Amino acid sequence: MAQRTLGPPLFSGAEVAQKILRGGPEQDPFASDQLAPSVGEWRSPKPRVRCEDLRVRFAGREVLKGVTLDIGRNEVISVIGPSGAGKSTFLRCLNRMVEASEHCEVQGRVFLDGEDIYAPGVDAVSFRGRIGMVFPKPNPYPKSIYENVAYGLRIHGLVSCKSEESSLVELVFRQAGLWREFSRRLFAPALSLTAGEQQRLCIARALAVNPEVILMDEPCSSLDLGSGAKIEQMIDELRQAYTIVLVSHSLKSAARVSQRTAFIRQGRLVEVGPTDRMFTTPSHPLTDRFISGCSE
Ligand SMILES: Nc1ncnc2c1ncn2[C@@H]1O[C@H](COP(=O)(O)OP(=O)(O)OP(=O)(O)O)[C@@H](O)[C@H]1O
Ligand SMILES: [Mg+2]
Repeated sequence: MAQRTLGPPLFSGAEVAQKILRGGPEQDPFASDQLAPSVGEWRSPKPRVRCEDLRVRFAGREVLKGVTLDIGRNEVISVIGPSGAGKSTFLRCLNRMVEASEHCEVQGRVFLDGEDIYAPGVDAVSFRGRIGMVFPKPNPYPKSIYENVAYGLRIHGLVSCKSEESSLVELVFRQAGLWREFSRRLFAPALSLTAGEQQRLCIARALAVNPEVILMDEPCSSLDLGSGAKIEQMIDELRQAYTIVLVSHSLKSAARVSQRTAFIRQGRLVEVGPTDRMFTTPSHPLTDRFISGCSE
């Protein structure tokens, strides 16, 4: 499909602000497809993932309206925006999970290390194994802590014998920074862990299949502050080896762990840029309103 380039915004920030001030919701400056100014640095010098004009429709209703964005190597990018903005849908496009939904159409292109993941011939199910996913609520398998990691290794054919399996399980837990915490209770049921421990186990499980990118959809939303802080620390450490896309409702959490932030509103990428700048001096008035807590 035709490649879209993001030229200069169709309106200056001041013009958009004027439109917002003059109009009610019925005069949303983004109401028409032509009025979709994204501002900020959507390109990355070292892209791991590149999305071009990504659009998603559910039963004909467009909920992602042309997102063009690079995600760089070894960066944590947070995706923020109001409820229903399309954050989870965007995330689910990156591992082709969105296609599992009924009446769903995806348009546009997503490249992982230069390879078009929606190209004919790419099998969605096997592709998903290359991308780790962590969900809002911890969802460990109802098996032992050990099995939660070992299972992925086995089904992806990454181990050939029991001793190789246990060595790799240890390696995964070490990489996740959880070996000291879990090594003495590897065969305890995962469901006996606290919610925070279960979520950290789910992150380790996502690492087991050696993914290239890890997608996290509000991984701390069901956790207390202390458990959330441990997840944030884990994300920061994993950045050395992985590219992480983090959807977060907590602006504070996004500000703490991400290097770049993308603001999505009503299915459109409004602004993307370095996190510190987005949270202090956003360029777009809609980002400003969202960050200040004034608007949805
Ligand atoms: N499988 C689906 N079928 C139909 N509509 C869907 C489906 N999944 C999401 N939607 C719709 O797409 C829009 C975007 O949803 P999405 O879950 O991506 O938003 P979100 O930004 O993640 O919201 P939240 O912050 O509440 O999680 C919403 O209007 C939602 O109702
Ligand atoms: Mg969501």
